[in-house]
Amino acid sequence: MTQKPLLEIKNLQTHFHVGKRIVKAVDGVNISVQPGETLAVVGESGCGKSVTAMSVMRLVPEPPAHIRGQILFEGRDILQLPVQEVQNIRGKEISMIFQEPMTSLNPAYTVGEQIAEVVRVHNSAARKDKKAAWARAVEMLELVGIPAAAQRAKDYPHQMSGGMRQRVMIAMALACNPKLLLADEPTTALDVTIQAQILDLIRKLAQELNTALVLITHDLGVVAEMAQNMVVMYAGRVVEQGTVADVFAHPCHPYTAGLMDSIPKLDGQKKQKLHTIEGAVPDLSQLPPGCSFVDRCECVREKCRQERPELRALPDRQVACHYPLEGVEA
Ligand SMILES: Nc1ncnc2c1ncn2[C@@H]1O[C@H](COP(=O)(O)OP(=O)(O)O)[C@@H](O)[C@H]1O
Ligand SMILES: [Mg+2]
Repeated sequence: MTQKPLLEIKNLQTHFHVGKRIVKAVDGVNISVQPGETLAVVGESGCGKSVTAMSVMRLVPEPPAHIRGQILFEGRDILQLPVQEVQNIRGKEISMIFQEPMTSLNPAYTVGEQIAEVVRVHNSAARKDKKAAWARAVEMLELVGIPAAAQRAKDYPHQMSGGMRQRVMIAMALACNPKLLLADEPTTALDVTIQAQILDLIRKLAQELNTALVLITHDLGVVAEMAQNMVVMYAGRVVEQGTVADVFAHPCHPYTAGLMDSIPKLDGQKKQKLHTIEGAVPDLSQLPPGCSFVDRCECVREKCRQERPELRALPDRQVACHYPLEGVEA
């Protein structure tokens, strides 16, 4: 059980200094990922999910960001590594898939050239052998289910549909067989029917290639289907984490419970109104002194307004709440 984590994020703080304000996009996050596991990260828009992933990739511009804490990848702190070494890790050891594939593909090159380029950058043999890099690109396009891959490799991104482009992004991300794949809402921009196919593909490939997967999503259905473990983020912090089975069976943080209530139930009555959590994520540059969820919490008490709840261990999970919901006692 005590396997060494592949990735260990320790007390990560990514703060943006904007004029006189400090936007605490990520504020003391701890997340650990085991080799080969699928971890889901959930939370409403603006909770710091993308900034967390981008911090791991060292893609957050500094300044305006100030990043503190540790991001240990196989024991080495990514935040302390020289730029060159970070570039070696990025794409080869850790890859990321973004929400909108068009913004991360270069319109001026064919998709085959772009995948081959990733291969060349990270593989000294392929650097000299253009043919081998191209062959690898075609192989990857086949692997992600693009028909007539050898032909389609010569297409430019705009000649492909959104779903096909996302497959290309996956091919590019996995071309060097990374140990960790960060998928940031990889299907949000796609049609519903295509979404399921792309998620299936990511799941299948991650399993086959034994790639650990951090799947950022706001879709709890996707979490239930894809992940073993989950982290719930709220206002730049982790508020609950545990196995998907445990958290779904019994959410302990009122925020998690609120998210769960907002999933439409199949057996629900037709006209039943979807439960949404009232209010919005607070301004991350003016967080209240206590719990960030106070203004929206149905169970709020005095202590919540005064003291910030730290993440603490319950028997089957961790939760940052002074009064976790009944069912699991500390
Ligand atoms: N470059 C930036 N400068 C200032 N604030 C930023 C920057 N990037 C992100 N943020 C802020 O960080 C917060 C978290 O954003 P993000 O991680 O994208 O949320 P999520 O992915 O959970 O929807 C947001 O309030 C966002 O406005
Ligand atoms: Mg995001």
